[in-house]
Amino acid sequence: MGADGMLGSMLATQLTARSMAFTPCTYPEFDLTRPESLRPLVSLHPTVIINASAYTAVDLAETESEKAYSVNADGVKALALFAKEVGARLIHFSTDYVFSGQSSQGYVESDVTEPASVYGQSKLAGEQAIRETLPPLQWIILRTAWLYGPNGKNFVQTMLTMAGQGKPLRVVNDQIGCPTYTGDLSTWTLDLLSTPASGIYHAVNAGTCSWYAFAITIFEQQQVDVKVTPVTSDAFPSVAKRPAYSILKTQRLSQALNYKIRKWPEALSEYLSSFTLRT
Ligand SMILES: NC(=O)c1ccc[n+]([C@@H]2O[C@H](COP(=O)([O-])OP(=O)(O)OC[C@H]3O[C@@H](n4cnc5c(N)ncnc54)[C@H](OP(=O)(O)O)[C@@H]3O)[C@@H](O)[C@H]2O)c1
Repeated sequence: MGADGMLGSMLATQLTARSMAFTPCTYPEFDLTRPESLRPLVSLHPTVIINASAYTAVDLAETESEKAYSVNADGVKALALFAKEVGARLIHFSTDYVFSGQSSQGYVESDVTEPASVYGQSKLAGEQAIRETLPPLQWIILRTAWLYGPNGKNFVQTMLTMAGQGKPLRVVNDQIGCPTYTGDLSTWTLDLLSTPASGIYHAVNAGTCSWYAFAITIFEQQQVDVKVTPVTSDAFPSVAKRPAYSILKTQRLSQALNYKIRKWPEALSEYLSSFTLRT
């Protein structure tokens, strides 16, 4: 599901590269808010359903909460029921926004959730719907954060586009997170399929930084000479509250995969050298 979104398109690329048979399902033909749209998939007897679709407009969700919930909560519930009916394993993605972002220690999977935005609340409701609907061994939820990759609006692309336009750049220095490459997240996801993994996993690249440090690293790696000024979040008031310190700890994922999760600057470097970015 969501095969033409930023993450979904990378998953599709990697499934193809691995010669794994799959059916790319895209919106609006397959619409989580219209469960009947999933019916043609029954005859395909899916063994795994990967859901990369979601309502992802974080700020808009504050005024469109019904829409956010209809996709991220009710739609996910319908998908979990469908997975139960056909006996498929369900792989779903969630977000660091299920946490408040107040913990300077970072978060493990079992930590208390406390979303501060409608988007985060709707994604948490989706997690709960899966847990209530499917037996424990039949689902995986990967909580990720600060995603970037080809085929999507993301911070890396925005920074390079703005630098290319010669715009002065001011970037927030008081929000800390884990930049994560869709290429790495897709690799972990597909690798997990050949393990008995189940439950919730935090799935982000290793290391942490502020948006400002992220921007500086992007420009250093691309050898773009641009002045960047660090600012606090007050400089860019947003409708939805973002977690200030959203560090997801990935030990559980690393153990399940039996390899180390690589650091975000290394993943960024691969992304920047693999794709032609618009400037
Ligand atoms: N991007 C991030 O920084 C980030 C961070 C943490 C977690 N996540 C999670 O990671 C996952 C992938 O995110 P992404 O950035 O790849 O999202 P994305 O690029 O916005 O892709 C979402 C996809 O879902 C589709 N969609 C929207 N409403 C739908 C519906 N009712 N039924 C079926 N499909 C629908 C969209 O179609 P249209 O484009 O046609 O609307 C789009 O193809 C999501 O679960 C998201 O919550 C993302």
